[in-house]
Amino acid sequence: MAPLRLVLGALCAAAAAAAAARCSGQTPAWTAVTAPGVQHKVLLNDLAGPRGIVIDSEGNLLVVEQGGKGVRRVVLDDGEGLDVCVTESSQLVDDSSLSHGIALSSDGKTLFASSPTDVYAYAYDAAKGTAGAGRNIITGMDQGGHFTRSLLVPRHNPNLLLVSRGSEGNIDADTTDVGSARSQIRTFKIDALLGDGGEAVQYASGAVLGWGLRNSVGVAEDPTTGYIWSVENSIDDMTRSGRDIHNTNPGEELNFHGLPNDTSSAVYGRNYGYPACVAIWDSDVVEGYAGGAATGKQMVGDQMPSNFTDASCGEAVAPYVTLSAHLAPLDMEFQDDGSAAYISMHGSWNRQPPNGYRLSRLSFAAGFPVHERSSQDAEERIMWNADDAACPGGCFRPVGLALGGGGKRLYMTSDATGELTAITGFRAPGTEHQATMKVQAAC
Ligand SMILES: *[C@@H]1O[C@H](CO)[C@@H](O)[C@H](O)[C@H]1NC(C)=O
Ligand SMILES: *[C@@H]1O[C@H](CO)[C@@H](O)[C@H](O)[C@H]1NC(C)=O
Repeated sequence: MAPLRLVLGALCAAAAAAAAARCSGQTPAWTAVTAPGVQHKVLLNDLAGPRGIVIDSEGNLLVVEQGGKGVRRVVLDDGEGLDVCVTESSQLVDDSSLSHGIALSSDGKTLFASSPTDVYAYAYDAAKGTAGAGRNIITGMDQGGHFTRSLLVPRHNPNLLLVSRGSEGNIDADTTDVGSARSQIRTFKIDALLGDGGEAVQYASGAVLGWGLRNSVGVAEDPTTGYIWSVENSIDDMTRSGRDIHNTNPGEELNFHGLPNDTSSAVYGRNYGYPACVAIWDSDVVEGYAGGAATGKQMVGDQMPSNFTDASCGEAVAPYVTLSAHLAPLDMEFQDDGSAAYISMHGSWNRQPPNGYRLSRLSFAAGFPVHERSSQDAEERIMWNADDAACPGGCFRPVGLALGGGGKRLYMTSDATGELTAITGFRAPGTEHQATMKVQAAC
């Protein structure tokens, strides 16, 4: 065993090297404000509309570039914290139709990516950085309006591929019929999708995990429970009994889907309300609600026929957490110990002043959000633009999130600015280990 003095010497040298950054980041296109302890560094700023991100089995980042490119592979060195450097950035998949969704199989050898109409699978070699030809495995999602088809392979259910598809336009009345196969999350068995000689299956043939979900772009698994959660982008231009309430209603929703293989759970295959029923954020402007309007309860508006009522909305699954109106949550990623979910808020177009354009956190305990369903305080901000009123110009607009670096580094894409940013110090105070500070104190 080496003398303690030598071990400490090596650790101190490492700490000193870390203090002198080995590569500088790119200059951000925005001015950020952060919670205490949060630091960020723009790793790349030349991406074409970067959207979804995953981390491969070798720690490389795979990023969908919506701007007519495909999938980019970004190789990083093994630096600590924010002192991380890009060593290679190259195009992995050349397919201009890819628009948002990306996922890896549990063995890391199959890459899934989506266009607005289809899902493709590619044989992937993480060490060599090569991908085979795309094979069409799911089809039949042609529509106008929302174009993302978010993908997730849960760690607890590695034979399932979850595909989230939004509505055609703001109010898609046909989605009251589950057969519309829009505004839904469906699951597919991966071994069947990849089986020999198979043709692409129709999206409508997947098992319905949840429906009545207007546009649930963010879909994530809590790795400690296997539960699936989604964040829903709710309706625009809302009126109720002729009154315009859209500036502060409805709220965006965090919805709970249980285990994606548990067909007997209370939420499996259930309807979540859209298009008739949406969540109250600002109860002050919701009149005539029996029993009293409150944040998190579901209400009707003028967007659907009057036979839908506040009372009938009680049959739909209510959100666990309601967020303020028009934040546009696009991705969600859980802390590895289940203590928080991080959410990217792309930001509003349908309210004044603008709102969103930030990275936030929801605290979880024992598998569920710590805040009450009626709370307006669940969202804890991590990093935001200095002046939302100036957005979207000159602001970062978060899209994809991935947690890496042993749970200590978040990667975030911003499509509007073409940036890939690394963020540290995002955990709630008191939940992060203080090991590095002890080492520094010994030097
Ligand atoms: C669902 O998957 C989990 C995790 O693999 C497993 O423990 C559980 O038994 C499965 N439940 C059902 C109903 O198949
Ligand atoms: C309202 O009527 C439409 C058809 O007119 C029907 O599809 C829908 O299910 C009805 N809603 C309720 C809550 O009864």
